[in-house]
Amino acid sequence: MNDIYAEAWKAVEAAGRTPRADGTSPASIRPLFAADPKRFERYSFSADNLLLDISKTSIDEGAMAALLNLARAAKVEEWRSGLSEGALVNATERRRALHMALRAPSGSTTGAGGAAVQAEIQATFARMHAFTQAVHGGAIRGATGERFTHVLNIGIGGSDLGPVMATRALINPASPMVALHLGNVDGHGWRALLATMDPKRTLVLVSSKTFTTQETMANARLVKGWLAETLGEAGAASHMAALSTNLVACAEFGIPSERVFPFGDYVGGRFSLWSAIGLSLALALGWDTFQRMLAGARAMDLHFLKAPLEKNLPVLLALVEVWHVNALGYSRRAVLPYDERLRRLPAHLQQLEMESLGKRVTLEGAPVGRATGPVVFGEPGTSAQHSFMQLVHQGTEPVPVDFILIARPDHPWAENHRILLANGLAQAEGLLSGKDEATVRAEMEKAGADAATIERLLPHRIFPGDRPSTSILLPRLDPFSFGQLIALYEHKVATLGALWGINPFDQWGVELGKQLAGPLLKELELGEPATGAHDSSTEGLLRELLRLRDE
Ligand code: F6P
Repeated sequence: MNDIYAEAWKAVEAAGRTPRADGTSPASIRPLFAADPKRFERYSFSADNLLLDISKTSIDEGAMAALLNLARAAKVEEWRSGLSEGALVNATERRRALHMALRAPSGSTTGAGGAAVQAEIQATFARMHAFTQAVHGGAIRGATGERFTHVLNIGIGGSDLGPVMATRALINPASPMVALHLGNVDGHGWRALLATMDPKRTLVLVSSKTFTTQETMANARLVKGWLAETLGEAGAASHMAALSTNLVACAEFGIPSERVFPFGDYVGGRFSLWSAIGLSLALALGWDTFQRMLAGARAMDLHFLKAPLEKNLPVLLALVEVWHVNALGYSRRAVLPYDERLRRLPAHLQQLEMESLGKRVTLEGAPVGRATGPVVFGEPGTSAQHSFMQLVHQGTEPVPVDFILIARPDHPWAENHRILLANGLAQAEGLLSGKDEATVRAEMEKAGADAATIERLLPHRIFPGDRPSTSILLPRLDPFSFGQLIALYEHKVATLGALWGINPFDQWGVELGKQLAGPLLKELELGEPATGAHDSSTEGLLRELLRLRDE
């Protein structure tokens, strides 16, 4: 860590502790609005049609200066160039992180990853396009001659969450195929899907970067067996394709190379929905929709790569996070899309952000020495208002919220949409303004409450306010704006990697559980715990599970 970087961090952390010149707390937001009628104009930014409003945070001019200084000290500009030009930013795995190259139109050089990478990517896209057209046109059919009407994506983590989220966001009644997803290894999920599919009309995609993931391979075997019951072994194979970097394992599983759509190891799982992993999207939503999604992400890539730091949306979102996590000590963040179609966005962001930023050592292997990625959770509004928003309004620790608002719906029910938007705006407004004692008292008196009741309920009905939120506003939810939105979060994550000095592209933390599951699986098979192999709790629970299972 060099001195400039260390000093920049100290300044940010000090800004979060030191009262402002007017004596107000650096965590307070209301005084900033009171002092500056143009605060919204000053603290809202746009890229194409996407607007980001960070005015409802406690960042003032001094804090912003300290944060931008940190971004410069952390060499965010160099980092983003390295990312786009194929530097080994994922140093622990000695890999590049070239998800931007997937969105670069053929022939472009910016963020394209170089000619060799582009040739690979465009060749796979050409095959995906041809395959999609052949399936939609009926040139590729099921073993009994029927057209494919359903596409089942089997995968987990990044090989599932991105496709599920994007399908839910962009599917419409005119979409060419029905998309189904099998992620969890829990057989109940498979049983629920079974009733909705006919093997004769179902095309199955096994999505796995490594093609070794235990859950995905178990599900792939299960589904292959199900196809074979009706179609025979050869028929089952003709209903399957694979999306993977591991061509050898695909062949061993029985999927011929012409049905394997590869991608490079420079595409991380949680950044992979733009790659061959997006084939279920192209099939279910149509090739043009998939392309528009890539174009939206590309627009955000160009903004990220070219806009100055002080107007750069992903950088600003990352700096807001640093302000909340490191200057003010907030350890959680909620995401509330006010659009039911984005209901799987929080789950996708949980993987994108927590798998990327849940790190405790720097790239060099030293302790980070400060908090990193917050816990991310969320639900669509307004449903979220009736579950966890109580804690956000009145709990002990402020929880910054991302509100995502869409101006125009794709349904004709104008009143519902007005209610939706009014609630989204009201939540953000209420978090900021709160409700003070005098207002609560006046309201209760007006409603005719007696003095004793007022005194008793007063503390419960006060809202502290000054609780931060950011708002992202889109004119419509379409493939382009969806691409912009997801790429915005991807680049925010990459920027936070640079600011914290951690590797946002590896995920060693998921390995231990996978390793330990091996022996436990054996013991479950044998029906007998290995004595002394586990702590007493694990052994006790295993014994109890075996007893209950087998009794
Ligand atoms: O959960 C760990 C992880 O490696 C993710 O990063 C990845 O998205 C997921 O597992 C699935 O991996 P694969 O695509 O190789 O099956």
